[in-house]
Amino acid sequence: MSDSELFLCLLPSILALLLIFILVQRKQTRLNLPPGNMGWPFLGETFGYLKPYSATSIGEFMENHISRYGKIYKSNLFGEPTIVSADAGFNRFIIQNEGRLFECSYPRSIGGILGKWSMLVLVGDMHRDMRTISLKFLNHARLRTHLLREAEKNTLLVLSSWKDNSVFSAQDEAKKFTFNLMAKHIMSMDPGMAETEQLKKEYITFMKGVVSAPVNLPGTAYRRALQSRSTVLKFIERKMEERMRKMEEVIEKKAEEDDLLGWVLKHSNLSPEQILDLILSLLFAGHETSAVSISLAIYFLQDSPTVLHQLREEHLAIARAKKQSGEMELNWDDYKSMEFTHCVINETLRLGNVVRFLHRKAINDVRYKGYDIPCGWKVLPVISAVHLDSSVFEEPHQFNPWRWQQNGNVKGNTSTSNHFMPFGGGLRLCAGSELAKVEMAVFIHHLVLNFQWGLADKDQAMAFPFVEFPKGLPIKVQHQKLV
Ligand code: HEM
Ligand SMILES: *[C@@H]1O[C@H](CO)[C@@H](O)[C@H](O)[C@H]1NC(C)=O
Ligand SMILES: *[C@@H]1O[C@H](CO)[C@@H](O)[C@H](O)[C@H]1NC(C)=O
Repeated sequence: MSDSELFLCLLPSILALLLIFILVQRKQTRLNLPPGNMGWPFLGETFGYLKPYSATSIGEFMENHISRYGKIYKSNLFGEPTIVSADAGFNRFIIQNEGRLFECSYPRSIGGILGKWSMLVLVGDMHRDMRTISLKFLNHARLRTHLLREAEKNTLLVLSSWKDNSVFSAQDEAKKFTFNLMAKHIMSMDPGMAETEQLKKEYITFMKGVVSAPVNLPGTAYRRALQSRSTVLKFIERKMEERMRKMEEVIEKKAEEDDLLGWVLKHSNLSPEQILDLILSLLFAGHETSAVSISLAIYFLQDSPTVLHQLREEHLAIARAKKQSGEMELNWDDYKSMEFTHCVINETLRLGNVVRFLHRKAINDVRYKGYDIPCGWKVLPVISAVHLDSSVFEEPHQFNPWRWQQNGNVKGNTSTSNHFMPFGGGLRLCAGSELAKVEMAVFIHHLVLNFQWGLADKDQAMAFPFVEFPKGLPIKVQHQKLV
């Protein structure tokens, strides 16, 4: 065969290849990706994105990007091509299409620390099963009786240690409260006991790693957190074995049947490894989030005397009525009757934004409002950006609980439910949203009735992007007796 004959034989294949190439090119160029900047190779724009900023703002990075590209833009974050959304409609679309077009996708480092069975990283059926167990455990009946009562007991325990004119970290106190409540509810561990304190200490190290750079080298926070994870796991494992022994000996007390550990051992067929990760992720999801929300309420209230005044009136009325009828403990009707308090809680969550954005990825090629989102790309719905969007909420930077008396005071012909999602939504809506509100309401009740407080040092909530008061929110308190 001569060269020209060979060429003729291969011509069809060459043409076919050329055609494929052109088609691929055309498909690529026909893709209408959102505008944006992919930044540096690999690093992308991650550093800009993670630069700390005030939690009641969306941060300079995002502000600049929105003004340059609009509310939906592309970027390169955490080493992956990413679509960032500050758009209310698109956020809702993403959240409602979980499992069909999008899927939960947290960075691998989170999975490494929380465990592969953690509810935050699981998807599909396994996620659904774990979620069902958690929801059963946080169900309405348990909230009404058990959890409300425990929340009140633990609130009073924390508040009773506050001395007049002493200065302390309100954030640490709030964390003490929510940790004790979760430890009790999950494993029947009592506050102040040596083992509870030890678990708390390990857990703090562990948390620092979850939010740090995932560099597994000696001396890094991530490495220490991995070590803490195994210490915490051994701890929970010991508890579990102890419990199984007791269950066999049938000397188990009623209270122990009632905690999550007892419940999963009896009523589920989870493996020990799955139980460990479930407990760890519940501690993780349900502890700092609500503690920081309580700290935010303490912060906003000391800065808003008129809100505090109206709030006190509401709780005084409840307390006086209870005193008259000789009741001691708050009950579910009391909780439900705290109308203005619920406005304060919503407003705190709207302005404070404890969870800023969710991690998702496209599991199909998606088209939304003319934009293409290729399968496999990460998608970050920034729920906080909608809460702080002046085209959605009137004067979004004002702490104004009264807006909730008009359904959030959102602009235009839409309901708040389209725009207010502090707890995410859809198939992954926060399993502890009602518990978090109960914790906030009960804590606020006893706080405003028994104390005056002010900041002992300037501090403000920052987004790292996890939200925290860098100085711990130092406050100074005085007792007051109103009822
Ligand atoms: C104010 C406090 C809280 C806030 C702002 C909050 C926020 C959230 C958000 C936004 C999600 C969705 C994550 C995603 O879709 O990727 C979530 C999930 C979750 N939260 Fe909360 N949370 C709070 C308190 C709690 C508490 C007290 C618990 C109690 C245990 C809890 C348990 C969970 C669980 C188990 C999930 C995973 C649900 C699932 O994947 O199906 N959270 N939370
Ligand atoms: C607070 O927000 C929730 C949505 O998360 C809404 O259902 C509720 O009605 C709001 N409460 C008030 C008092 O507006
Ligand atoms: C909002 O729109 C719906 C239909 O889309 C309409 O029935 C309703 O009257 C509108 N409400 C207001 C306040 O304009």
